[in-house]
Amino acid sequence: MKLKSALNFSHFLLEEIIQPNDTVIDATAGKGNDTLFLANLVGKKGHVYSFDIQNDAVKTTQNLINKNNCGLQTNVIHDGHENIEKYVAKPIAAAIFNLGYLPTGDHSVITKGQTTIAAIQSSMKLLQKNGLIVIVIYYGHPGGKQEKEQVIDFVKNINQSEYNVLQYQFINQIHEPPILLAIQKR
Ligand SMILES: C[S@@+](CC[C@H](N)C(=O)[O-])C[C@H]1O[C@@H](n2cnc3c(N)ncnc32)[C@H](O)[C@@H]1O
Repeated sequence: MKLKSALNFSHFLLEEIIQPNDTVIDATAGKGNDTLFLANLVGKKGHVYSFDIQNDAVKTTQNLINKNNCGLQTNVIHDGHENIEKYVAKPIAAAIFNLGYLPTGDHSVITKGQTTIAAIQSSMKLLQKNGLIVIVIYYGHPGGKQEKEQVIDFVKNINQSEYNVLQYQFINQIHEPPILLAIQKR
């Protein structure tokens, strides 16, 4: 077994948790790769709510979903993840956040600490028992370190009698290796 990258580890964790028919959230749709991954895990009777504030990201994600015949179980929503509770009312099995900017998009559009934390809090309210929120933090860009510090400070203080919180990162890599956080409802 090889140690997994943060991205591969995020998929490994989600695969362990998500069952057919579950409701799940992709909080940062981007190019739609995670949305498609989730749509395949929940199947036609499950549901994926996928959010992005960039028009291009929403279009690209919707196209990918349509091309793969996953439209039935997927809502791609052109809105900020801080508004999750306007759209999702059912308990969720999982949520995935990929923080930072879309490499193929406008690099000045970044996720921000305050709205990210609001979205994590909404996801925590919706989370079912043993459900999992996975957050992959990329922070090498301007504004990234500030968001990383805000998010880590928030998750460190989550009540341990209600949630377990994990941090996963390669600590001997140059530059800014991504950090994975996982919040599981007990
Ligand atoms: C690192 S990318 C996500 C990559 C994506 N998971 C993929 O598979 O391609 C981050 C995305 O978050 C989006 N974003 C930034 N602020 C947001 C917000 N408040 N709500 C939802 N999405 C947001 C950006 O537009 C960008 O597409």
